Amino acid sequence: MDGNGRWARRKGLPRTEGHTAGEEALATIVRESAASNVGWLTAFGFSTENWVRPRTEVRHILSLHRKLFGRTEEMRQRNARTRWIGRPFHEKGAKTPIYVQRAIQRAIDDTKSGTGLTVTIAFDYGSRAELLRAVRHAMTQGPVSTDSIARNLYDPTMPPVDLLIRTSGETRISNFLLWQIKGARVHFTERTWPDFTAQEYRTSLTQYSKSHS
Ligand code: IPE
Ligand code: MG
Repeated sequence: MDGNGRWARRKGLPRTEGHTAGEEALATIVRESAASNVGWLTAFGFSTENWVRPRTEVRHILSLHRKLFGRTEEMRQRNARTRWIGRPFHEKGAKTPIYVQRAIQRAIDDTKSGTGLTVTIAFDYGSRAELLRAVRHAMTQGPVSTDSIARNLYDPTMPPVDLLIRTSGETRISNFLLWQIKGARVHFTERTWPDFTAQEYRTSLTQYSKSHS
């Protein structure tokens, strides 16, 4: 969900306002996903590299995650469930503060009966950290194979990514789902994340469907 800062700067607003608008944009895309029968939506909320940002900005983004994970009623109304991927709370290096841990755990528990859409939030997430851990775990379980690595990812039940959306004019892949995006279609857009609309999302889904029919 890239470009919150640029969105705010263009409007002459503090970066924090961009993150607030970004959280709203995600709520819109979650709604649209449920309406479009998307099975899995995974959003990059906060990376293992983002902790070095200014303290006030980090604090604001964290409180927005509490808000985001708190949208359990909306999730239940849409038959959706919330999940999370990131560095496991009790493992070395993990940085998720306790109040965000609680919000994540509550969101997962309160929405677990949702059978339509799975919304996974990547928080304190980095693909390299995920893969390193998966390989280390796989090595304790016998000969390492692609299957054994896949079984040790943060969420082994997550299907391969069909469509990856990168906003704000960046045409590179960051440290996101590097294992899972093999074969994914990539939709690049100039729009910053807060300006990413349900309409453009629908267009990207249609283009994906056409390329796979
Ligand atoms: C994405 O917006 C939000 C997070 C990474 C948490 P940015 O904060 O990266 O916005 P830009 O890239 O500075 O515009
Ligand atoms: Mg950015």
